[in-house]
Parts: sequence; structure tokens; C-alpha cells
Amino acid sequence: MTAGNTVQAGGPEVIAEASRRRTFAVISHPDAGKSTLTEALALHAQVISQAGAVHGKAGRRGVTSDWMEMERARGISITSAALQFAYGDTVINLLDTPGHADFSEDTYRVLSAVDSAVMLLDAAKGLEPQTLKLFDVCRYRGIPVITFINKWDRPGREALQLCDELTDRIGLQPMPLTWPVGTAGHLRGVLDVPRGEFVRYLPTAHGTTIAPDERLGAREAEADLGADWTQAQEESELLRAAEGEFDASRFSAATATPVLFGAAVRNFGVRHLLDLLVELAPRPAPRADADGRIRALDAPFSAFVFKVQTGMDRAHRDQVAFARVCSGVFERGMVVTNATTGKPFATKYVQQVFGQQRSTVDTAYPGDVIGLVNATALRVGDTLYSGKPAVRFPGLPSFAPAHFAVARPTDLGRAKQFRKGVEQLGAEGVVQVLRSDLRGDAAPVFAAVGPMQFEVAAHRMDAEFGSPIRLEHLSYQVARRLADPSQRALVDKGRNSEILTRLDGADLALFADELALRLMVRANPGLALEPLVAEGG
Ligand code: G4P
Repeated sequence: MTAGNTVQAGGPEVIAEASRRRTFAVISHPDAGKSTLTEALALHAQVISQAGAVHGKAGRRGVTSDWMEMERARGISITSAALQFAYGDTVINLLDTPGHADFSEDTYRVLSAVDSAVMLLDAAKGLEPQTLKLFDVCRYRGIPVITFINKWDRPGREALQLCDELTDRIGLQPMPLTWPVGTAGHLRGVLDVPRGEFVRYLPTAHGTTIAPDERLGAREAEADLGADWTQAQEESELLRAAEGEFDASRFSAATATPVLFGAAVRNFGVRHLLDLLVELAPRPAPRADADGRIRALDAPFSAFVFKVQTGMDRAHRDQVAFARVCSGVFERGMVVTNATTGKPFATKYVQQVFGQQRSTVDTAYPGDVIGLVNATALRVGDTLYSGKPAVRFPGLPSFAPAHFAVARPTDLGRAKQFRKGVEQLGAEGVVQVLRSDLRGDAAPVFAAVGPMQFEVAAHRMDAEFGSPIRLEHLSYQVARRLADPSQRALVDKGRNSEILTRLDGADLALFADELALRLMVRANPGLALEPLVAEGG
């Protein structure tokens, strides 16, 4: 339909398509069951016939690239992409987030592209450190959160205790929509709180097929389940009395969280989650641009790049830029404008990428994620748009790095590969790349939020760019942005501080520790130092 520079007008179709979309991510601590839940969600949507085909343990076995081998060895997921599937009339976009705290900057970028999040907890563990960090990012961005308490098929903590933890530790009002009947490990089913009905737990063989939904009315449930049913009713009533009625507006305002109980590996509770996403999760809304102007959903096409990734798979050694559509219709083949450079960008190769699965995208609407292949010109934070006027969405902030290391090529004959690799890793945001005239181009400084980013960077420099590196760690721990370039010499003169320039042009002042920073500020009260976005907001 649309090709070349033709501008696709929006209209009611775009609004209708946008309102069918639910774009979310699952946040959890490693091992809480994120991959299992992802498979179970896709299974319910009938994308795959047997769990494990998309992203789980079975899927990981087929992985080929070195980089993914590293992920597999560590049991973490570094790659992020989006899975799209239909559930009834709804189009679900599930964005994958990295599973390790060291990649919270990456997670932050992914969370900038979602409209809601599912916080997945292990029933035996409750809120774990990584969950808390990711939740902080959601809170910082005001993202509504649904809580799914997983692994209820085996012994765990009490439901009331887990709900109290949400109130006490993160100040989020729990609003259970299901409540477990029977104790953890002896799950009999759940109470559907709004309907007052019992939904029986019918585990399927290894959870590879969808469990049928057997429901009983309250009276039948009481006759069938006796004390377990009465206890579930009493507990959920107790919580309602303490926390108040279910209130969807408090969920949208991100001050309350609907809570569901289930067992992803048994596919139990997964349908409730999908239904809840359809009914309650926010749909794509018009976004504000960098000047605060609202870009209507049916304005011409616009999107922003939230992730750039290279070498996701040895068979496709290319660079994919993931962009979330914010307005209008995207049609493959469109020529759009990159707001950062003002240059045209042809969208010939566009894919959906999830794990090892790739499929070509022809059309996309607000809320969808497109993977632009061979997009070497695109950087994280870039806005793409068609038509006039130009639009530019706010850039994605870089987190305050806390680890710094000088990168040196171990093979000096490969200077070109070294430069190319460093530039690429910086553009992708694998690490922040800092330079100074003093250190020179052959000794850039890598800055990271978490040290595992260094491992990924070093591995990729060797395996992908053919330039092995040595990392010399620097003893800085604190970074601030220096807003006034004329003050550079003040910081550079210090014994425990240094000025380095980031690829985006920002001057970063590095200090050995907080004390060194305080002493510097005391000695130079007019120093224009600004905090960077801290990890987790
Ligand atoms: P992650 O992506 O969050 O890291 O977790 P993943 O899905 O890989 O799940 C971690 C482990 O928890 C897996 O066991 C998985 O089977 C198990 N699990 C997930 N959901 C449930 C659940 O509802 N109930 C129970 N009992 N276990 C669950 P594993 O032993 O590491 O792997 P596997 O050999 O079982 O595949």
C-alpha cells in the first residue's frame, strides 16, 4: 500500500488497531519462571503446539552463536526482543527483558517501550533483589504492574504474607483477583474473587497442553472443598477489608497491583493473566514528544528505537534496531526520516525477532515492535517518523556508571577492528564509551552499571570484531555530568578525579568515591555537576 515517501494517513483503523494492542514485559528475578511463563502465554494463544518451542530450555538447546552460548552458560538472557501473538481479538506484544541486574540499563530501555509490566514472583521467595530493582524502574516510569505469584504447585509462603510484603516493602496495594484454595504444594484451585467462583487446578502432563477450565459456584465449592474453600474466602475477605476494594484506577495510577496466583509450568493461572491483560492493562496511548507536544495515535507513522543489537545469531550476523511504534501505520518499504540525523531511512527489511524465531513484518500499529534489520545508521533513542511536521521523542537516559576500565587491544595490528568494535558497542549501549585527549583513541574507557557488561563487551570484541582486548580497571566509582565545559580543567586537576567525554558528547566527571566528589565541590562551589540517572531510578 505505502511505499517510497508516501505518507500513510492514520484514521479510525489506527485507533482501533492500537486499542487491540497490549504491550508489556515480564520483570522477575532469575529462576522465578519468566521463560516458562512466556511459553505458557504463547501456548494459550496457540502460537506453538508444545511448550518449549519458543524460548525455554528446549529452545535454548538450538542456540548457535558464541554469545548465546555465553548466555546459556550463565543462565541469563542478554538479548531482548518482542514476541507477538493474538489472544482472541487482542494482539499481545511481550517484550523480553534481560534477567540480570548488571543489565538494568538495558532493561530500562525495554521498559520505556511497554505500557504495563507483569511482576513475576516465586511463591517460596517473594520479592527478590532483582525484582525490587526492576520494580523501581517501573515505579520511576509510572508503569502499571500486575503481580503473578508463581510456583503455587509446590510448597511456598502463605498468600497473605506475600501480599503483605507488597504493601510493606514496595508500598503497592495488593488487589488479588484470584486467591489460592489449598496451601502451596497442595493447590486445589483458585477463588475467582470478583465472581466468587472456584476454578479447579487440573494439572496437565508436564504443562505442555492447556488445562481445561473447570468452575464451581460458591455453594458447590463449599460442599466439595470444605475448610480449604472457607479459608480462602476468609483470607481474601480479610485482605479486602484491610486494603480496600479492587480499584482499576489505582492500578492505572501504578499505586496498586492486581494479584494472581498460579503455576506457569502447569499452565495454571495463565489464562487469568491473559484475560486480565485484555481487560485491564493499558492500551497504547498518545505519547508526548521532546517538546511536550502530544503525538496523536492516528498521526503519521512515528516510532522510537529502544534497543540496537548485533550478531544475535551467527546465521544472521547483522544489526537489528528495535523500535516501538508510537503513532500511525508502519508499512514495510516505507522511507522514513531519522529525526536525529534528518536523513531518510528505508525500511526494506523488517522483522519480529524473539529468541531464534524471526518472521517478516509487513504492517505494524502503535504498541507494536519492529526489528529493523541492517540498521547500522540507527542508535538507541532515535526517533523515526514519516510526513510533516518532524517529531522527536525524548531520548533515553543513560544510567550512572559505577565501574570503569580502560580497553586496550591486545593485537595492535587490528586497530581498525578495535575502533569499529568500540564504536559499535558504544552505539548499542553494551557499555558507555568514554574518551579523553590525554588517554587517546587507542585507550577508550568503558563505563558500566554492572561489571558483567564488561564481560559481554570483551567477549564480543574478540568473537565478533576480531580484536581481543585487555581491560584495566580504574578506581573510580562515582560519575557526574559536567554541564559547563569551561570548568573541565578544575576536575582534571584533581588527584582523584578525571574528565572524560562520552560518545554522545556529554562530559563526565569521574571521582574515586563520594568523598572525593564532596571535597571537589567544597573546593569549587560553582562547579556545574549534575547527577546522572541512578540505577533503578
Ligand atoms: P527464568 O526464565 O525466570 O530464569 O526461569 P525459568 O522459566 O527457566 O524457570 C526456572 C525453573 O523454575 C525451571 O526449573 C522451571 O521448570 C521452574 N518453574 C517455572 N514455573 C514453575 C511453576 O509454576 N512450578 C514449579 N514447580 N516450577 C516452575 P529447572 O529445574 O531450572 O528447569 P527444568 O529442567 O524444569 O526445565
